[in-house]
This record gives sequence, structure tokens and C-alpha cells, in this order.
Amino acid sequence: MPNKLDFSTLIVEQKGPVCRVTINRPDQLNALNPQVFDELEQLLYGGNLTVGETRVLVLEGAGQRAFVAGADIAAMQSFSPEEARAFARTGQMVTKALESSPIVTVAKVQGYALGGGCELAMACDIVIASRSAKFGQPEVNLGLIPGFGGTQRLVRRVGMHVAMDMLLCGRGRTLSGTEAHQLGLASRVVDDDKLEAEVTKVVQSILAAGPMAVADCKRLVREAYSMSLDAGLNAEATSFAHAFAGDEAAEGITAFLEKRNASFTQ
Ligand code: COA
Repeated sequence: MPNKLDFSTLIVEQKGPVCRVTINRPDQLNALNPQVFDELEQLLYGGNLTVGETRVLVLEGAGQRAFVAGADIAAMQSFSPEEARAFARTGQMVTKALESSPIVTVAKVQGYALGGGCELAMACDIVIASRSAKFGQPEVNLGLIPGFGGTQRLVRRVGMHVAMDMLLCGRGRTLSGTEAHQLGLASRVVDDDKLEAEVTKVVQSILAAGPMAVADCKRLVREAYSMSLDAGLNAEATSFAHAFAGDEAAEGITAFLEKRNASFTQ
């Protein structure tokens, strides 16, 4: 039986090693108000997810129309600069937690992934988009800038010129799921009606692999952004060596040679 945790803006469903987190404000196209971030922060930092027990977190938006259509504009209307900074900092904590957790994070993106929605998706390890999804950073049309990492992560994902185009033109430059995939913002793109099946495939692939190997790959790829190539290669060699000291690689290699599926300890 799936285990449901109690949040008011999130539906969190734990089923074995997979945690599905649905941002549940469909009438506002899942816009991110402070409560959504507080609850995401509680979920990610509050001991609700046990590393080891949870191996994959799938993040999605409720309804068919949006992953997340951005930060909640109505909630921001009365922000003082201090409140705005706190809101940005909480959003940044959440995106950092998605990146730094050993749990693999998968964004399932259909419909709008605008502003904070695009930023949340970018912080996930794997982004699976439907063809008709719409990725964009329209903050400048509100006289704002992204606050949850958009100016910093987008350039690292799609390069200077596409990032500039999206950030400076705002609503004037949204990407379909197909374009997001072509430009490296989405890992996979599928027909809209195949999205859930693709998510299942991705989750199953991760669960079939060695848990430590998956967590090490995630950590090393994340660290690559802040390391020199030499330091990164050194860290990779250390983790590669470490794998030979444990049971996981022994089982994976033996299973291959015995022509059977590996059975990894979860
Ligand atoms: N914050 C708060 N509410 C939002 C929202 C947001 N970011 N995005 C959508 N909503 C609300 C709308 O206000 C509307 O509420 P209402 O029914 O009470 O009027 C509801 O969600 C549906 O949106 P609507 O604008 O009617 O749908 P649409 O199909 O005409 O347009 C969008 C969809 C996504 C193009 C449009 O809602 C939009 O531009 N949203 C803002 C996107 C944005 O600028 N995000 C970055 C914020 S920093």
C-alpha cells in the first residue's frame, strides 16, 4: 500500500523506493507560493525521505495543464524586499536539496514549466517532457528576475545564447518540449500520452541499477560543475576504486558473467 504524507499543497505518495511528489494547486496552475516551498523544504530536509529507502523522487504538477506556471504572482504582490529575499532563499534551498540529495530526482513535465517551474525542473537530475510542454522564464515581463537559480542554472544547461534569449525575451521565447530536448534542457521528450509510461521506464531503469553506483554517478556529475577536470577525474578514480571494495560491484559483475540479472541490496 502506498504511504501518503500529509501536506496541504503537496500530494506525497511513497510506494516502496519511489516517492511521487505532486504540487497540488491545479486552479493556479501549480504556482509556487511560500507554503509550497515550506512544504517542499519540510519534505526534503525534515527527515520525511529516508535515503536508502527512497531511491527515486518523481516531481510533477497536478492536472494536465501545468507542471508549474511559476512563482505565485498574487502572493508576491505585497512582498517587501526582505520577504522577497527569504522567498528566493527558500526556493534556492529546495532546488539545492533536489541536486545534492543522493536520491535521484526526476521531473515529469507536461504543460507549462514557466519561471519557478522551469527552475524546479532544471534542478532535477532527469527531466522528462511531453512534446507540447512549454518551458520559459517570463519574469522580465513582470519586471522581475528569476529567484530560484534561473539566471545561474539555465546558462549551465543550454549555454549563453539560448539562456540570454529566454531570460531577456521572457514570454517572447518559450521552448516546446521538443525544443527543450534538442537544447539539452530536457533529458527525454515523448508524445503527450506516453509521458507516464516514459517516467515508469526511467524509474525502473534506475531501480535496476546498483544504488551506490547511481548515487556516486549523480554526485560526481553534480560536482563536475564546480571542479577542475583534474580534480573531477581524481574524484572519479577514487569512487571507481571504492566500488571494488564493496559487494555491489562484485554482484553486478558476477551477475553479468553468469548471464542473470543482478540482485543489489537496496
Ligand atoms: N501565479 C499565480 N497564479 C497563476 C500563475 C502564477 N504564476 N499562473 C497562472 N495562475 C492562475 C491565473 O491567475 C488563473 O487564475 P484565475 O482562474 O483565478 O484567474 C489560473 O491560474 C489559470 O491561468 P490563466 O492565466 O487563466 O490561464 P491561461 O491558459 O490563459 O494562461 C499562462 C496560462 C501560464 C500563460 C498564464 O497563466 C501566465 O502567464 N501565468 C504566469 C506565468 C509567469 O509569469 N510565471 C512566472 C512568475 S514569476
